[in-house]
Amino acid sequence: MRLFVAITLPEDIREALAALENGLSGVRWIPEDNLHLTLRFIGEVDHGIAHDIDDALAALRMPAFEVKLAGVGTFGQGRKLRALWAGVEANPELSRLRDKVERAMVGVGLTPEPRKFAPHISLARFKNNGAGLPPDKLERYLADHALFKAGPFPVEAFTLYSSFLSSSGAIYTPEADYPLEGAAPELLGMPEG
Ligand code: 2AM
Repeated sequence: MRLFVAITLPEDIREALAALENGLSGVRWIPEDNLHLTLRFIGEVDHGIAHDIDDALAALRMPAFEVKLAGVGTFGQGRKLRALWAGVEANPELSRLRDKVERAMVGVGLTPEPRKFAPHISLARFKNNGAGLPPDKLERYLADHALFKAGPFPVEAFTLYSSFLSSSGAIYTPEADYPLEGAAPELLGMPEG
């Protein structure tokens, strides 16, 4: 299974992000339902490891917190553009959650993630590294949306997703949700009272 750990976004936030998905050619926009905040890409693992990952994530304890989104940017530049993203405001609690997830993954034997955490929500992938996209078009897009803001929204759980790469795009399936402490019971699918 190909797995990753992410924060699922509330519908109104996904809608606000999807409203950014126009006005650029030469990109593949990510469908609204697929928008998420990645905490840890895991990649291909066998079922035994997947089980260990689930146990480790279920044991993680952390209070619920809030996240705000701000601005847009790209990974890669010039002729090496890779992804267009919406920014996530720096937030010590988000970094703490990511660090706890990372420690849990190293604890089950995965190779440590060498890259610094750069929280973002991918909106699009550039086709052919942005070849064919006039630079001034991209600059205008980034300037037009520089003041984008969304949230704050509550993060009351995080999710282990499986990813299946089909010819029509990635299909993400939530495999397990892990509640954070203090989350509202109705959001955790628990009966009230
Ligand atoms: P990103 O889009 O948030 O940058 C699920 O595939 C998620 O895992 C993607 O949304 C992507 O994060 C991240 N991802 C996919 N392939 C990856 C890879 N090879 N290395 C690191 N992260 C990857």
